[in-house]
Amino acid sequence: MLWNVTPSAWDDLRMKNRVTTMLGIEIPIVQAPMGWIARSALASAVSNAGAMGIIETSSGELDNIRIEIAAMKDLTDKPFGVNIAQAFVADPRVIIDFVIAQGVKFVTTSAGSPTKYTAQLKDAGLTVFHVVPTLRAAEKAVNAGVDGLIVEGAEGGGFKNPSPVSTMVLLPAVTEAFDLPVIAAGGFLDGRTMAAALALGAEGVQLGTVMVASQESPVHENWKQAIIGAEETSTVFLNTHTSPALRALRTERTSALEFDHTTNAMGSFGKVHDVYFGGDLEAGIALTGQVAGRITESRPVAEIIRSCAQECEETLERLHAQYPSR
Ligand SMILES: Cc1cc2nc3c(=O)[nH]c(=O)nc-3n(C[C@H](O)[C@H](O)[C@H](O)COP(=O)(O)O)c2cc1C
Repeated sequence: MLWNVTPSAWDDLRMKNRVTTMLGIEIPIVQAPMGWIARSALASAVSNAGAMGIIETSSGELDNIRIEIAAMKDLTDKPFGVNIAQAFVADPRVIIDFVIAQGVKFVTTSAGSPTKYTAQLKDAGLTVFHVVPTLRAAEKAVNAGVDGLIVEGAEGGGFKNPSPVSTMVLLPAVTEAFDLPVIAAGGFLDGRTMAAALALGAEGVQLGTVMVASQESPVHENWKQAIIGAEETSTVFLNTHTSPALRALRTERTSALEFDHTTNAMGSFGKVHDVYFGGDLEAGIALTGQVAGRITESRPVAEIIRSCAQECEETLERLHAQYPSR
């Protein structure tokens, strides 16, 4: 196990590339924005570990988000960002002013057109990365002037494009086509998968499901244990016939929807609070990625991030030693 990264080894974990430089972070790992979950307890732990903590807005609870962002400023002096999941913005008239007013320098936009907010956010001096699930969406984002892309494969948890493309196909397709900094999302949790992302042209990874299961995650222990107990087949992909599609934990409720190509699964989203914080996994839909099948314990965020960076470096060194360039 590589979890025991000593503080003296900390400086060695700095990884310099366009993502770390643009975002002002030490380790090119971004914590996924996740409604109700990506708040100050989780995001400050990520930022304090040298990576990029993100505060969500997809819950639509802007008054609470304002409090969470104020808390971030007490909990960390490191950079953090905000996500705008466009399809879930409660009031499109206020969201941009709200985000700009929070004083963050980094924003990710997702679940919508990159032409909608990019110019306004960039004019206000923010660095904008847009989440893309297809090569065509990447092209649109590049044309809209984004600073970078988050390339998200369909194995990841959360809302998805109804035509799922895996990270292994999507990531190299995008990095071959465009020279923007890319953060890979969907299926990552450790240094070997991070090294694979770098090999495929990414300059960082975004971690979702492993952060849901982390010790600082605010979700109920039942969800964390369900992730820990999950196999790689323990998620379902819902709504291939409509948008948004979603990847979620397999339960009785979600299994019943898996091959239902007429009902919109969003109608069964249920009671988020009962699932997320009450621990009743049948009360709604617990967004979860396939990588749950590789998560075996709930670990502190700093350990997840530092071991990921350390193992990534060791993997790259091992491969270099095994296949030295001639
Ligand atoms: C519970 C949950 C909620 C999510 N909510 C959002 C969100 O609000 N905005 C967004 O851009 N992505 C959201 N996502 C997707 C994540 O940002 C991330 O890209 C994805 O989880 C990465 O794949 P992984 O789960 O394999 O790590 C969510 C994912 C999960 C698991």
